[in-house]
Amino acid sequence: MRFLLSMLLFLAASACQAAHHSAPRTIVRDIHSFSQPNRVRVTHASLDLALDFAAREARGTVELALERHDPEAPLVLDVHDLAIEAVTQTSGTPLVWDLGREVERQGQPLTIQLGSRDRSVRIRYHTTSRGEAMQWLAPEQTADGAEPYLFTQGQSILTRSWIPLQDTPGVRITYDARVRCPDGLTAVMSAERLGRDSLGAWRFRLDHPIPPYLIALACGRLEFRALSERCGVWAEPSVIARAAAELADTERMVQAAEKLFGPYRWGRYDLIVLPPSFPFGGMENPTLTFATPTILAGDKSLVALVAHELAHSWSGNLVTNATWSDFWLNEGFTTYCENRIMEMLYGRERAATERVLEIGELEKELETLEPWQEILRTPLAGHHPDDGFSNVPYTKGALFLSRAEELAGRERWDAFLRGYFERHAFQSITTQDFLDDLARDLPDVHGTLDVELWTAQPGLPADAPRPETASLAAVDEQVAAWSDGIPPGDLGTRGWSTQQWLRFLRAMPESTSVQQMVALDEAFGFTRSGNSEILCQWLELAIRHGYGPADARLEGFLREVGRRKFLRPLYTALVKANPERAKALYRQNRARYHSIATSTLDGIVSVSG
Ligand code: BES
Ligand code: ZN
Repeated sequence: MRFLLSMLLFLAASACQAAHHSAPRTIVRDIHSFSQPNRVRVTHASLDLALDFAAREARGTVELALERHDPEAPLVLDVHDLAIEAVTQTSGTPLVWDLGREVERQGQPLTIQLGSRDRSVRIRYHTTSRGEAMQWLAPEQTADGAEPYLFTQGQSILTRSWIPLQDTPGVRITYDARVRCPDGLTAVMSAERLGRDSLGAWRFRLDHPIPPYLIALACGRLEFRALSERCGVWAEPSVIARAAAELADTERMVQAAEKLFGPYRWGRYDLIVLPPSFPFGGMENPTLTFATPTILAGDKSLVALVAHELAHSWSGNLVTNATWSDFWLNEGFTTYCENRIMEMLYGRERAATERVLEIGELEKELETLEPWQEILRTPLAGHHPDDGFSNVPYTKGALFLSRAEELAGRERWDAFLRGYFERHAFQSITTQDFLDDLARDLPDVHGTLDVELWTAQPGLPADAPRPETASLAAVDEQVAAWSDGIPPGDLGTRGWSTQQWLRFLRAMPESTSVQQMVALDEAFGFTRSGNSEILCQWLELAIRHGYGPADARLEGFLREVGRRKFLRPLYTALVKANPERAKALYRQNRARYHSIATSTLDGIVSVSG
């Protein structure tokens, strides 16, 4: 019976593949990849890597399965700071290969000449210390301080620095992996875990096709705690209990998301809480969200980040931006979907509050951006994808969708959204594909929206929805009272949420005196805050207003935390207040930060000078 079943499954799978072969989807040109996937396309990667923590290198092979649409064409891969040792057929017969000229921040093409019958290649290689995807941590950079740690970050174009691949989000591949690491360490990946083989190597497999930026690996002293049947959390032993408590609502979030967007298609939904040098808040690696420990506030007040990374299981991972110019399709949709999950779990007021704060941050940032960076369909020619990173794809993108929802009505809009995820499941699509869907399925909405203004022009259109919330209005009243001279201790702040405190701190005027800072800290204990968002906002004020008693806390924070979102405003304020001090602190800490953070911060704190 079992045999018959697997036979049937095999036949069905082969039929699908045959159909796939006859009509390959044309992949749109991606200026950030050397690959030519419409000629030869990678469909599967089989990794076999050993992690050498002493040398800070990964070494081994990758075997790539190929589809050949142009029989004459070579295979072209993206590599960056990799040492290629050999390229062969899977039988071991050498193939002719060549590394092309290096383009700054983008790497180089690896061109492989294929024999007429080759349907796969094997590449033997190792990573190098210049590679940006892998951050190797010394034990003292971890929570427990006992063992070293490694994690990878693929988005946007870093996967090519740990795996030679067609590193474009337009190409989707399945993968499996075998990872060897020292005893006592556990390896986890963005894939199904298959346990350890007889040699002690960790094995993984992902049968859903994903863009290469979602292949991810972490390895360290890890413990697992189940949150529900399909959800759980990985963290170092000293963090696991706090992490599990903070993330207790995860299963409810998945259920809410399924009601809104359709079935969760990835099997498990786990999270890993990484060491604090992780440069992002979260990264939506399939089946295993990577998260910063700075979301562990103790009161679940920062779990919108989980809703966000979870929402990427639909927007981003299931339906993916075809190029980095369409990045808002990932992040704008996800920010919109995150807010819907938050609303379903915690109510309209909480969701609207988060949205209002996001709009505030967007408006502040719009004053600093160049016009091209304000365009949803971002013109990235001559730029690295990360140069287009701002609140624009996130918040302007989400507001565009909220405006569409407003015009369609929630019921019609939700049906459209579910259809969008269903129709494009496991596809990479462009902004134009989305607009075509909208014009076809909701023509009245498409007709009313100024689509050109929203997607092709800078700035925030006047019809962007602007929710109002009682809880933030209450904060504004207290800010006014404070400005009128009411002492902080007499303000009505009882029971305020993290979001209300953020509003309060962001409203502090430029004229705030050191005496006022002292009074605020005495009343509210900001310098002692265990909430990273509140603390970061407070430390920024402390720098701007010369509040010395926060210095030690600031220095500790900069030493420990590597999250770019926090480091950027803090160093920006430091440079403005005291460039010498900024440089000195940055020099002390730079080696501990991820290259993703330093590539932003180097430009803010000019280290050379
Ligand atoms: N996918 C992004 C992180 C990312 C974007 C990495 C671009 C590399 C290039 C992730 O989903 C994200 O948006 N993270 C946010 C948190 C979120 C709650 C806004 C972050 O890290 O701050
Ligand atoms: Zn995101």
